Amino acid sequence: MPFRIATFLLASFVGAGLAAFAGWRFAWLGAWLGAVVWLVLDAWRAQSLLKVLRNDGVGLPSRGAGLWGELAERIRKLLRDREKLAQQAEERLQEFLAAIQASPNGVVLLDEQGRIEWCNETAATQFGIDAERDLLQHLSNLVRDPAFVAYLASWNYSRDVVIDAPAKASQHRGHPPRLSVQVHPYAGNRRMLLTRDITSLEQAEAMRRDFVANVSHEIRTPLTVLAGFVETLQNLPLDAEERARYLNLMSQQSHRMETLVNDLLTLSRLEGSAAPPPNRWIRVRALFAQCEDEARGLSSRLAPQHGHRLTFDIEADTEIAGVATELQSAMSNLVSNAVRYTPGGGEVKVTWRLLPDGRGEYAVRDTGPGIADEHIPRLTERFYRIDRSRSRETGGTGLGLAIVKHIAQRHGAELRIESKVGEGSRFALVFPVTRLRAVSAAVGAAV
Ligand SMILES: Nc1ncnc2c1ncn2[C@@H]1O[C@H](COP(=O)(O)OP(=O)(O)OP(=O)(O)O)[C@@H](O)[C@H]1O
Ligand SMILES: [Mg+2]
Repeated sequence: MPFRIATFLLASFVGAGLAAFAGWRFAWLGAWLGAVVWLVLDAWRAQSLLKVLRNDGVGLPSRGAGLWGELAERIRKLLRDREKLAQQAEERLQEFLAAIQASPNGVVLLDEQGRIEWCNETAATQFGIDAERDLLQHLSNLVRDPAFVAYLASWNYSRDVVIDAPAKASQHRGHPPRLSVQVHPYAGNRRMLLTRDITSLEQAEAMRRDFVANVSHEIRTPLTVLAGFVETLQNLPLDAEERARYLNLMSQQSHRMETLVNDLLTLSRLEGSAAPPPNRWIRVRALFAQCEDEARGLSSRLAPQHGHRLTFDIEADTEIAGVATELQSAMSNLVSNAVRYTPGGGEVKVTWRLLPDGRGEYAVRDTGPGIADEHIPRLTERFYRIDRSRSRETGGTGLGLAIVKHIAQRHGAELRIESKVGEGSRFALVFPVTRLRAVSAAVGAAV
């Protein structure tokens, strides 16, 4: 300020001084002219600063003298700070959007009219929309599921709505993904849509329901039979022979229930237990010995007259790393299936050999009825039986192959099923090289 007054006075004095040459009486006029020149110059500087500011401050003069110079400098500093803040805010916004992009859930932001303002890639894929092209489109024009359209229009978002993803969206295994969509209003009439792919959740839920229904059914059947026999025994006077026959049938049913519960426990144990150790070795020969004992016992029980032609052949003396009880159970299961489903007089061949690539194959071949192609992929499903009545006759619950597959997976092995109706079946377990080692000659001889 003092500088401004000083320059104003200086301009007036200089004007007065210059005018004084023409005569003292012109001194006042000179001072006045000097002041006017100062004012014009001052207004010009103010005007040029204003012009630069109107242009968003581009080309603001660097620090000049006087009030206008300082003003320009301060404004420039303020603008710089504002720019830095805006840049920081933009960076934060980008980080925030990147975080929402990374979310496994879909996010769509709608404006007051229900038009898409922004959506992340997950939502774009799930709804089959284009995040850029469909911007500002009404979402209900793009996702036309009636339940969804009604939900969006209802403004009652206390719960979610479950829809099939639109046909344009990616499909898995022929079914459109199932989406749970929930809207959350914000900032007045704006809305945020959150979507979640619940396909696998629904599948798991359906599987659980089927499983419970199957278990209940499998338990109820023998229970009903048992209850019937108990009632008969209570109400009818039976002779000793009849009583013995009924008791025998009752024992069969209770045995069936016991087997079922044991199989279920085995499955749940398999699901919950740690991976089989890679360094506990079991000799294939020992596993074969038990399989053979069981198979011969089962065969003489099921086909006492004709029996089965059973052969057990080990091509290479090998050890498998894993859990002995599990491996035994898987191998015995396949042999017992072959014996059970092959009529008396048929042949069951069990072999162990090393494949050219070093993997080990345990194979059970039978000359039984064979299995039609459409059943083969479903055999390892829990409770899946081709012929329920026949399987029940032989005491099966349909859990055997599910257990075998589980055990195989835990040991890194593959269960291969080949079969032709009328010719027989071949079930094989192929073990990876990493779980096999040859039995050295010395050990082999000693055992
Ligand atoms: N070797 C085979 N020959 C023909 N059919 C077979 C053979 N092995 C299995 N199956 C069919 O596959 C179905 C499923 O077999 P799985 O071993 O899982 O159950 P199960 O034998 O019925 O009962 P479980 O083994 O639990 O006592 C059987 O019901 C049977 O119909
Ligand atoms: Mg079985």
